[in-house]
Amino acid sequence: MNFTLSSKPISDIKADCLVVALPEKGDWPASTTQANEALGGLIKTLHKNGDATGKNATTLQMPLDGQPWARLLVVGTGADKDRTPANYRKALIAMAGQIKDGPSKHVLVGLGDTLVTGDDATGSEAARLSLIGRTLEEQFYRFTEFKSEKPSDRKLGKITVAASSAGKAMKDAFNLGLATGRGMNFTRDLGNTPPNICHPVWLAEQAQKLAKAHDCIKTEILDEKQMKKLGMNTILAVGQGSTQPPRFIIMEYSGGKAKDKPHVLVGKGITFDTGGISLKPGEGMDEMKYDMGGSASVLGTMQVIAETKPKINIVAVIAAAENMPDGGATRPGDIVTTMSGQTVEILNTDAEGRLVLCDALTYVKRYNPASVLDMATLTGACIIALGHQASAVFSNDDELANEVLAAGERAGDRAWRLPLWDEYQSQLDSNFADMQNIGGRPAGSITAACFLSRFAKDYRWAHLDIAGTAWNSGKAKGSTGRPVPLLVDYLMSHAGK
Ligand code: BES
Ligand code: MN
Ligand code: ZN
Repeated sequence: MNFTLSSKPISDIKADCLVVALPEKGDWPASTTQANEALGGLIKTLHKNGDATGKNATTLQMPLDGQPWARLLVVGTGADKDRTPANYRKALIAMAGQIKDGPSKHVLVGLGDTLVTGDDATGSEAARLSLIGRTLEEQFYRFTEFKSEKPSDRKLGKITVAASSAGKAMKDAFNLGLATGRGMNFTRDLGNTPPNICHPVWLAEQAQKLAKAHDCIKTEILDEKQMKKLGMNTILAVGQGSTQPPRFIIMEYSGGKAKDKPHVLVGKGITFDTGGISLKPGEGMDEMKYDMGGSASVLGTMQVIAETKPKINIVAVIAAAENMPDGGATRPGDIVTTMSGQTVEILNTDAEGRLVLCDALTYVKRYNPASVLDMATLTGACIIALGHQASAVFSNDDELANEVLAAGERAGDRAWRLPLWDEYQSQLDSNFADMQNIGGRPAGSITAACFLSRFAKDYRWAHLDIAGTAWNSGKAKGSTGRPVPLLVDYLMSHAGK
């Protein structure tokens, strides 16, 4: 797909389809007014007669017989006061759905001048162009690698987005959006790849490929021997029931000053979670191939960073293992010494995510991080608490928690904070070791986060439980690419100018 930004008046741009925004009531954006004039009042008539209501995310497409556009697509953008970034994105998704497999080869998009709640006078157009770029890339995604019959090529090949200026600031914002969409799609490819291919060594190879394609990324892969030497015994304990060996993946990007402390990303990379000896029920177990969703979001985010090169230092690590129940597997009751020296009684081998993450959290201390964010499909309880709308955030630092929430809000990739109060910690008391790896049924997501917090005491840390947001079940089964937009927004907000 060829994406461009243009600051020409829309009536000077020829296209097979013009997309305009129609608010439910109130003032129109300038591009809609211009199009209406060029079309002799057509949009006004459609609205007045109720053919186009302007209700958010509704669409009406029709042929035009004149120049410069062969078709018109009217996208409802709702009431001004309801147009949150999330609702604006719904309108963009509706647009993408109409154009992606339609008859137009070249589409001109005029939605960049539609105001969104929270917009200020400056800079907001950049944010909207970024969201347009991201949403288009991401909505055009298809995963057909394992289909013998490939879908036919799309007619659509070129998108022009109208903007008030095509100068550096707008271009950078638009390109960041496009890169974020591609990063999400990379994350989705990784998540959708079947677990007989996507195992820890393969995941490590994907990181190496990324580093090979971009000079600014360095990778290092630790094998079992090196992990043993570092004392990463809990990662090894999770991987020991599988014939696929675990890996610890380290990526570094240094775009900031040498003295800038790095922001650290940590990903849960369980390439398949059977539960181990605490075996999961069979139904829906295939979905546990997405249990590397946290690590996939880390790789997708690193791709965005590599493509856009912000002035920031970033370290990303992935704890990759396959949780299987063979004769060498960890048993319920086993006690393991973590890299931090704290001992853990593994009462349930299905609570393996926290076991691989705890050693990763200990490992990253050496970077003296500005912040550490870990991403993990950690608990089914998180889906019960928040469903599929929001990722759960836990943090030992209120300011960091608020930054993560704000990044999610701006990016339309929302998160919601849950408490990490000390009162929950006692659910992890063990009779035999420093702690046990499960805290019983009440507050399952919180006790999982409490477990992690014991390994993240030395830095500002936030944990994102993405069990409900990283993939869709049911008919649209597949990886979503979340929380790449949140992570990119968070990191960009910390990059130097
Ligand atoms: N990967 C799962 C969590 C999960 C479940 C993610 C369903 C997405 C959908 C995790 O490893 C797990 O099995 N957690 C257990 C923890 C329990 C044993 C304390 C869970 O949530 O049941
Ligand atoms: Mn599990
Ligand atoms: Zn898991």
